[in-house]
Amino acid sequence: MPFPTSRPRRLRATAALRRLVRETLLAPGDFIWPLFFSATIDAPQPVSTMPGVFQWPVSSAAKVARDAASHGLGAVLLFGLPKTKDARGSSALDPVGPVPRAVREMKNAVPDLVVITDVCVDEYTDHGHCGILRESAAGEPSVDNDATLEVLAEMALVHARAGADVIAPSDMMDGRVGRIRKALDGGGFQEACILSYAVKYASSFYGPFREAADCAPQFGDRSTYQMDPANAREALREARLDEDEGADMLMVKPALSYLDVIRAVREQTTLPVFAYNVSGEYSMLKAAAAAGMIDYPRAMMEVLTSIRRAGADAILTYHAIEAAEALE
Ligand code: PBG
Repeated sequence: MPFPTSRPRRLRATAALRRLVRETLLAPGDFIWPLFFSATIDAPQPVSTMPGVFQWPVSSAAKVARDAASHGLGAVLLFGLPKTKDARGSSALDPVGPVPRAVREMKNAVPDLVVITDVCVDEYTDHGHCGILRESAAGEPSVDNDATLEVLAEMALVHARAGADVIAPSDMMDGRVGRIRKALDGGGFQEACILSYAVKYASSFYGPFREAADCAPQFGDRSTYQMDPANAREALREARLDEDEGADMLMVKPALSYLDVIRAVREQTTLPVFAYNVSGEYSMLKAAAAAGMIDYPRAMMEVLTSIRRAGADAILTYHAIEAAEALE
């Protein structure tokens, strides 16, 4: 029935009607809070490129865990800044590195908090790439896929032994989900879940994170392992491969320039699909707010709603605490 019978505005007339017909709802349990734990600081350190975000000393882990739990967040995601870096990312395998220590402290403080760990060596390599290097035929250094898998598998085990509930590989090497699943099962960690960064683009929106996690590549970029932002069919292929290798959950990253990809992956799989509202997306809102250009709280909720509406079950976001408070 066209106008004048149909009047969509009828359902927008009052706040109560709008609430009644709202299609997408947000809850604190949808948010996963990314955290940076550093082995080299003993007080929280603000990250200049990400207003409101801190690097935390491991001694803050219990407090941060209680904070996440008291806000009802769905989970936390841990990144580490180690004391030392080398070409092979050896410190990623240190059982008393910042991530394993923080995991133990958080699980002790709040046993039922879901703790996810990022598995990738870029914070631990001196060259800043997400894997072990070898010389290519052209004499250029390139990331050696299969050699990297061994390190990732070992890193996943170190995190699982510390008590991580979910292992989240973010390196984009081929075959890592299967390799990590085998390592976890072999180590007696059949219950540890794998959240695969299945669809991760070579994005400019990771810029602020690279300061937070001190992991900017020292030469070249990540386009031989992360995906070309122009490709969507390839996203479905990546998602399918990771599902077949045994991923329990899939992630699309970044979120905002890839809402179509979130929707497409959502339609292809029955697994939970998460999206990473990355550092650049966060810092753009903070910068626009600081310049007086937008209403920050509204913009934040609009962004998070759009990611859920696109089909994400949960959102990794630096807004987690602020957004949970806005929903209280
Ligand atoms: C790699 C990793 C990155 C992010 C999460 N895991 C950086 C990269 O791939 O360069 C980016 C997260 C963000 O920008 O918020 N360990």
